Amino acid sequence: MKELLLTTDTSSSKIHIGEKQLQYLRTYIDPSKYDSVFCVVDSSVFNIYGPIIEEGLTSPSGSYDLNIVQFESKESNKTFVNLETLLDKVSDCSCSKSTLFVAIGGGIVCDMTGLLAGLWYRGCDVMYVPTTLLAMVDASVGGKCGVDFKGHKNQIGLIVQPNQVVIDPVMLGTLPAEVFRDGCAEIIKHACLADVDLFEQLKRKPLTTSEYPETFVTYQLNHEEVLIDVHACSYTYDELEELITQNIEIKASFVQADEFDRGVRAALNYGHTIGHAFEAATDMQVSHGEAVAQGIVFANEYGKSHVFTDPDFAEDTRKLLVAHGLLINENKFNVYRKRHRILKTSLVDDINSHLSHDKKKSGNEINFVFVRKPGEYYIEKIDLDFLKRKVRAKF
Ligand SMILES: NC(=O)c1ccc[n+]([C@@H]2O[C@H](COP(=O)([O-])OP(=O)(O)OC[C@H]3O[C@@H](n4cnc5c(N)ncnc54)[C@H](O)[C@@H]3O)[C@@H](O)[C@H]2O)c1
Ligand SMILES: [Zn+2]
Repeated sequence: MKELLLTTDTSSSKIHIGEKQLQYLRTYIDPSKYDSVFCVVDSSVFNIYGPIIEEGLTSPSGSYDLNIVQFESKESNKTFVNLETLLDKVSDCSCSKSTLFVAIGGGIVCDMTGLLAGLWYRGCDVMYVPTTLLAMVDASVGGKCGVDFKGHKNQIGLIVQPNQVVIDPVMLGTLPAEVFRDGCAEIIKHACLADVDLFEQLKRKPLTTSEYPETFVTYQLNHEEVLIDVHACSYTYDELEELITQNIEIKASFVQADEFDRGVRAALNYGHTIGHAFEAATDMQVSHGEAVAQGIVFANEYGKSHVFTDPDFAEDTRKLLVAHGLLINENKFNVYRKRHRILKTSLVDDINSHLSHDKKKSGNEINFVFVRKPGEYYIEKIDLDFLKRKVRAKF
């Protein structure tokens, strides 16, 4: 069991990382503070873990009411309209200022529930229980929450820290391999930005493998073992817990230095400027992790000619992305393009048009993150037209 404290000028978040904590969630709820719990849970997660979640959240003394609503996690559901539907349910359940909101799911459920809690009575307490690798090491840390609006990602939102984050890495045991891989992209990003030892460790021992050894334990429910055994991770439970902790510490260091994203927090955008544009241009057919991998390779290639990105670092990173199955090869890319009738010219045009709408641009310039070698990053304002010409040359 690991405990971290993320402290900013405005608040502090307690982060607990431990095996099978899902069944003990009630122990993180102070019954003297809350009259009810409103939990939003990913419906696929509920299908697998429903009874454990219900048991885990129920107050033994009946001191608070428990309401659980399921939410289908797909990006197209992360909307203001669905937020309003959830607000209706919050109102129907007579939630008060003393309601604790709980999110159990990936980044989509955490983002929506964070905003729900942030708006209800101008802000209630919220606990995140992230269930994807990406949400454990990234989305649940740092307080950004929001919904997409008129086709633009996360356009309406808040930065408000969760009171607690409870991470149960055992839940990764049921994550589809491709969703697990998306989380690996953020871990590689963290290693590039801030941790040479982690970078070397991932080179020696990638997080995914084609063979999936059984390293996970089972849950205990009403004195019976519940078997959950399919996963895509090549680390043992202890190694994974340590890795998640390290990655939270890296993300937290950027958040603590710049909670409201006006300076160094922008470094976390490494690989994401092109990544987001690429993801959107392929109609989300490439996953977030695959798109970020393209973005990282692009930034490193550009960096080699511009800010002295170390060619050995660029090559090692490319190999790391390949080892984690994140760098889609020409064949796979062509399959996507054929399936979706994306012609070469239109893909480039689409990437560039999405770049023009990037919410991080100011005027005709955009902050672009380069890494020279692990732990040494560099943020520079780049002329958008220049960047678009680079995109045209690459894709
Ligand atoms: N707030 C932030 O700082 C931040 C950072 C990064 C990403 N995000 C947001 O996070 C979202 C992506 O989140 P995500 O990658 O976690 O995906 P997600 O929430 O869409 O979940 C991915 C899939 O995994 C399933 N799933 C989740 N946990 C599972 C489990 N334990 N077992 C089996 N299936 C499970 C879900 O049902 C879903 O189908 C995006 O909307 C993105 O904008 C937010
Ligand atoms: Zn990302």
